[in-house]
Order: sequence, then structure tokens, then C-alpha cells
Amino acid sequence: MGTWKKTDWRNKQRVQMPDYLDQDALNAVEARLSSYPPLVFAGEARRLKEQLGAASRGEAFLLQGGDCAESFEEFSADGIRDTFKVMLQMAMVLTYGAKVPVVKVGRMAGQFAKPRSAPTETIDGVELPSFRGDIINELAFTPEARIPQPEKMLRAYTQAAATLNLVRAFSTGGYADVHQVHQWTLGFTNAPEAEKYRELAVRISDTLDFMKAAGVNQETAHTLQSVDFYTSHEALLLEYEEALCRLDSTSGKWLAGSGHMIWIGDRTRQPDGAHVEFCRGVQNPIGLKCGPTTTADDLKVLMNKLNPENEAGRLTLIARFGAGSVGEHLPRLIKAVKEEGANVLWTCDAMHGNTIKSSTGFKTRPFESVLREVKEFFAVHNAEGTIPGGVHFEMTGSDVTECTGGVRAVTDEDLSSRYHTACDPRLNASQSLELAFLVSEELTARRTALQAASGQ
Ligand code: PEP
Ligand code: CO
Repeated sequence: MGTWKKTDWRNKQRVQMPDYLDQDALNAVEARLSSYPPLVFAGEARRLKEQLGAASRGEAFLLQGGDCAESFEEFSADGIRDTFKVMLQMAMVLTYGAKVPVVKVGRMAGQFAKPRSAPTETIDGVELPSFRGDIINELAFTPEARIPQPEKMLRAYTQAAATLNLVRAFSTGGYADVHQVHQWTLGFTNAPEAEKYRELAVRISDTLDFMKAAGVNQETAHTLQSVDFYTSHEALLLEYEEALCRLDSTSGKWLAGSGHMIWIGDRTRQPDGAHVEFCRGVQNPIGLKCGPTTTADDLKVLMNKLNPENEAGRLTLIARFGAGSVGEHLPRLIKAVKEEGANVLWTCDAMHGNTIKSSTGFKTRPFESVLREVKEFFAVHNAEGTIPGGVHFEMTGSDVTECTGGVRAVTDEDLSSRYHTACDPRLNASQSLELAFLVSEELTARRTALQAASGQ
């Protein structure tokens, strides 16, 4: 890192970022944000890095999930609570399958800026700049709404701070108690359509009963009552990231103070571009989306730039190829990682390669495709002798109808009823939990196979 400066990205080519019209207003916002407290602290980011390092060795498993785009309009305590709640339920079901701790990272408290496949959008012959997330402009289809407004960064900061505050309170204030979390899960598995998941839920109940009988309870085991929950977002809007970047006095290293983990998107991972330049200089865990167009050569350059010291937990490779394409792309990238001897955590974003247009005209993702991509991801790692270390979902705790399928089936016709996403379609609470049960089965199968192979 040596001479890295938080402003160096400004000398590199930038893509997917807005051109603000009012430079004075932008400077004022950046100055104000720079004087505000960071949202996270370096010790937390280091702790997450250690836990992700454990996941890279198969000693933990990463669950990363939340909104595609957080929205100003949908911001509410209930929304945050419901997503937090379903992530805890998922984590518990996954812990049961993996038999290792599940590291919980929300796409929350900063996930506001969106890369777009096209810079403009045309409706009925009218062409306007694309919506780029609430931190940049507005969704309404008018010329004024699509003008990037720097002041929106201040509102995003405030919303992120309030979100993080509530999540911290839920994490330690008793809400995350394992018994309560499991009760919620039983609410799902007791429904007739979810019968096939009941057996696993009953096994978890038995385990909790056993622990209680053996004297492990809320009073004696603090860990049953509280959880570690981290935040993450795509580090897309670099003016915001730079303004929240702080020098950590303990380590003398820079910290992105905007969230615990930040990632580089599939459209902004140019090895010599602005986003890689910013992310390489901060000490946080960094995610890197890897898609069908990621070349082995680029990946090698990126791994060296982003993790020159080859630190465990520093770099998470987020594979997002799409169901049916994992076998074509993942092995060549795993080979590149092996050739470099690089320490990475592999995780599977089973959303972004599986977006389709429904027969009713909505952007959707079939549950079956999401599941299939996860299964292919596991199969490739099992064959390569590498570690499938986590999953990454766009999901919400609300009962939306954005992705199709699941035991409480959402059909193409249902999509219009509760389609609320500010960007990509999310799994609803029931679909998210169901997926956790299915991923848990994959984890159990993998564990059993590894034990059999080692003769245990
Ligand atoms: C996202 O995670 O919301 C996203 C835009 O992903 P990707 O960069 O992989 O397309
Ligand atoms: Co998305």
C-alpha cells in the first residue's frame, strides 16, 4: 500500500459513476461527510476478516444477503427487523448443516448505489439517464428526478447509521436468542407445504433441548443470546467512500468507514480502474464479483493488487455465473487461484446470473435457477478439492413477490401483487429460508462425503 492515498482513484478511469453538475455542492457534501464519524470501526473489520479467513479454510461459512438496493422510501424499523430475522433463521439452519459458525453479513446500511447495464432508459420514445440508486438520483421517470444530487449522500449516511444502530441493538439486546430464532423457523416448517423441511427442524429442536438439559442456556452461554452481524455494500460511489475513509490509529492503515466489508461489482472491476484503486488501499475485507467475462489473467492481476500480502479473509471471490454456466467458468478461475497460490474465500452469488423477464413482463429470478447455481457451485468445488465457503443472496424479510417458485409458490401472474424492489428481484422470507434448508442439505452431504473420504 505504501504511498496509497484515498484520493488516488481520481486519477484513474471511472465507470458507472455520476457526473455531478454542481461541483460546489458536491465539495460541500464531501467536506461535511468527511467530518462525520465513520459507521464502523477498524477492529470490527479486522474481526470480520479473521472470520472470513476461517471460512476460506472451511472452518466457518459466509451468509451474505439483503437488498439489491436499499431505498429511502422503504426505510423502516420493520423492514430492517424482518430481514435481520430471516438471516438469523437461515444462519441457524446453515450452521446445523455445516457444523461450523456462520458469518452473517448484510447487504445493508450502505447498499444504495447501483451499476446499470445501460446509461439511459427509454420509455415511450423518451430517453432519460438511468436510475442509479437513491444515494445518487431518483426512480421517478422525469428529467429532474434523474439528475444526480450530491446531498443524497448525506441522507444515505443518516439512514445507514440508523440501520446499523438498530442492527447492533437487535444483535445484542436479546432479539437474536437461538430459541426464539428457532421458534420462528418452526412457524415456517409447521405449514403443510413445508413438510419436507420439518425433519431437519425437529433435529435442531432436539439439539437445543439437549443443550438445555446439559445446562447450556441463555444465562450461562452469552453466545446463545447475541450474534455478530456485519454490514456490506458495493463500493461504487467513490466520493462517498473516500469521504468516509479514515486512518486507523491502532494499525496505521486506512479503513473504509462506510461498512465492514465492501465489494467491487462485475462492471467496475477493471484492474487499472478507479474502483480497484480505491479498494486496494483500505484494510477492510474486500469482495470481488467474478462473472462469465472475468478472465484468468485479470483475476491474477486483481488478486495481486487487492491482496498483495496474501492475507486470509482479505479477498472474497463472489462467483455469479448463472445456473448452467458454473461448470464452464468456475474451474478456470479456480485454476488461476491455484496457480497463484492465492488465499481466497469462494462464495456463490446465485442471483445476478439468473435474472430473466417473466411472461408477465417483470424482471424475475426462478427459485429453481438460484438453487441450481448453488448446487453447481458446490459440485465444482467438490470436484476440484476446493472450498465452497459461502452464499450471497438478494433477499428481504418481507412477503414480496419478486422471484418465482418455492414451496409457497410465486407464479408469473403473482409477480405484480407485491413487487417492491428498488432494483433487482429479491427472494422473500419464505423462499430465503427454504433455500437455507436446501443449502444446509448440500453442506451436510459435503461434510459426510469428506468424513467418509478421510475414514472418520
Ligand atoms: C449487485 O450485487 O447488486 C450487482 C449489481 O451485482 P454484479 O456486480 O455482480 O452484477
Ligand atoms: Co442486484
